[in-house]
Amino acid sequence: MTISFLLNGETIEIGGGAPTTTLLDWLREERGLTGTKEGCNEGDCGACTVMVTDADGAKALNACILFLPQLHGKAVRTVEGVSGPQGKMHPVQQAMVDHHGSQCGFCTPGFVMSMVASHCSGATDHDTQLAGNLCRCTGYAPIIRAAEAVEGQPVPDWIQDTAPGGAPDPMLPRSSDELAQAYAEQPEATLVAGATDVGLWVTKQLRELDPVIFLNGCDDLKEITIDDNSIRFGAMVDMNRMGAALASLHPSYAEMIRRYASVQIRHAATVGGNIANGSPIGDNPPALIALDATLHLRRGETRRSLPLEDFFLDYGKQDRAAGEFVEAVSFPRRPDRLKCYKLSKRFDQDISAVCGCFNIIVQDGVVTDARIAFGGMAGIPKRATTVEAALLNQPWTIETITAAQSGFDADFTPLSDMRASAEYRLETARAMLERYFAESQGAAGNVLEVSA
Ligand SMILES: Cc1cc2nc3c(=O)[nH]c(=O)nc-3n(C[C@H](O)[C@H](O)[C@H](O)COP(=O)(O)OP(=O)(O)OC[C@H]3O[C@@H](n4cnc5c(N)ncnc54)[C@H](O)[C@@H]3O)c2cc1C
Ligand code: FES
Ligand code: FES
Repeated sequence: MTISFLLNGETIEIGGGAPTTTLLDWLREERGLTGTKEGCNEGDCGACTVMVTDADGAKALNACILFLPQLHGKAVRTVEGVSGPQGKMHPVQQAMVDHHGSQCGFCTPGFVMSMVASHCSGATDHDTQLAGNLCRCTGYAPIIRAAEAVEGQPVPDWIQDTAPGGAPDPMLPRSSDELAQAYAEQPEATLVAGATDVGLWVTKQLRELDPVIFLNGCDDLKEITIDDNSIRFGAMVDMNRMGAALASLHPSYAEMIRRYASVQIRHAATVGGNIANGSPIGDNPPALIALDATLHLRRGETRRSLPLEDFFLDYGKQDRAAGEFVEAVSFPRRPDRLKCYKLSKRFDQDISAVCGCFNIIVQDGVVTDARIAFGGMAGIPKRATTVEAALLNQPWTIETITAAQSGFDADFTPLSDMRASAEYRLETARAMLERYFAESQGAAGNVLEVSA
C-alpha cells in the first residue's frame, strides 16, 4: 500500500509499513514533530488534535486513533505548521497569548488546532467545538475568550490547504463497488471506517491487524438522501454530517448526536461503524430502531435489507456474513415524534449508561403507534415490546403511563457495571417514559431548557 498526503504543505509518500500506524506515532517517532501530544491515546483528551482537509473542508481530528492510510489524498496540519511566513503567529496563537490561554502548555497544541480548524470553518459554538479538549490547569474561560477574540478575523492564506487526492490502491477502495470486490476477495480483512473503535483495538489492546481495508475513499457511501418518503444515510456518513442533516427533521436525535463524544470523534465516527460494531451502548441503533429503520447490507453483487432490530442477534453477534458490509441505513420520513434521552455520567464527551428513544404517535388522545428502543439495557440494542403493547390503543394519560411503566421489568434484565447499576437503569427507563409524557404536555424536560 502506498499512501500520499500533504503534511504542513510538504508532499509525503509512504510505502510499506504497518497499515495501522497511527498519525500520532508517526509524527512523533518518524518525523520528530513532538508538538502533537499524547495524553490518553484513545480519543478522549484532544491533546493530539490535528487539522485535516479533505473535499468537505478542514476538520479537527484526533491523531492518536487516526491510521496513516486514512489520510491518503488529504492535507494535514500539525501545530508546527500553523504559523505563517517568518514565524508570524496565526490569529488563534496570538489570541491564546493575549488572553492567557495556557499554563503548563501540555494541552495547548491540541486546543490551538481545534481552534484553528473551527476558525477555518467559521464555527462559533466554542463550548461544543472545544468539548473534546481537556485542560487541567488553565481553566476554560481564558481559552474561550481567545476563541471569541478571533471570530470573524480572516483565515490566513498560509493555513488554507487543498486536498491533493491520491493514487488508487486495492486496500483503499474509492467506491462501494470496489469495496464489494476487495472484501469478497479478502473476507478475513478488518474494515476500517472512522477507526474510533478499531483505533483503540490497536492503541489499547495492542492488536496487529492485517489485512485491513479502509473505507474512507468510498465517496458514494457518504451520501445522504432525503425525499418525501424516506431518509437514507450511507454507511460512511460521519456523526457531524448526520447531526446536521437531522437538525430540522428530528431535533432531539440531532441534540443527542451533539453529545456524542467530541467534534473530533464525530468527524471520524460513522453511522455504519456505530451499527456494525454491535455495541449495546451505541447511540444510533436505539434511535434508528425507534424510527423503524432498515439496514442495507451488501456482499459482492448481492444486496439484502432487514429491519435494523433484527441485525442484533445477541451480545457480540450480528446477522452479517463474512465479506458482507453495511451499505446504508434508511427510515421512513414521518412527522417528528421522536425523543432521545441519553443518560451518561458526564453531560458531554461520554458514552451512554442508558439511552432511551421514544417514538409514540397519539391521535385524538389515543396511542396509535409506539416504538421504544433502548441502549444499555441488554446485551444488544432492544425494543421495549411489553411497554409498547401496554401503551397501544390506550388513552394518552398519566394513568396509562403509570400502568405501562412496570413493563420495563419484563422487557429488560440489565447488568450492573461501572456505568450504572441494574436497578438504576430500570428506574431511569421508567422515568424516561414519564418524561416523554411530561414533555408532550409542554413541560421542559431538558436541563438546558430550564430557566429561572
Ligand atoms: C472518545 C470516544 C468517545 C465515544 N463516544 C461515543 C458516544 O458518545 N456514543 C457512541 O455511540 N459511541 C461512542 N464511541 C464509540 C465509537 O465512536 C462508535 O462505535 C463509532 O460509531 C464507530 O464508528 P467508526 O466509523 O469509527 O468505526 P470503526 O472503528 O472504523 O469500526 C467499528 C467496527 O465496525 C466495522 N465496520 C465499520 N464500518 C463498517 C461497514 N460499513 N460495514 C461493516 N462493518 C463495518 C469495523 O470493521 C469494526 O468492527 C466513542 C469512541 C471514542 C473513542
Ligand atoms: S491523545 Fe488523547 S485524544 Fe489523542
Ligand atoms: S495548560 Fe496545563 S493542561 Fe492545559
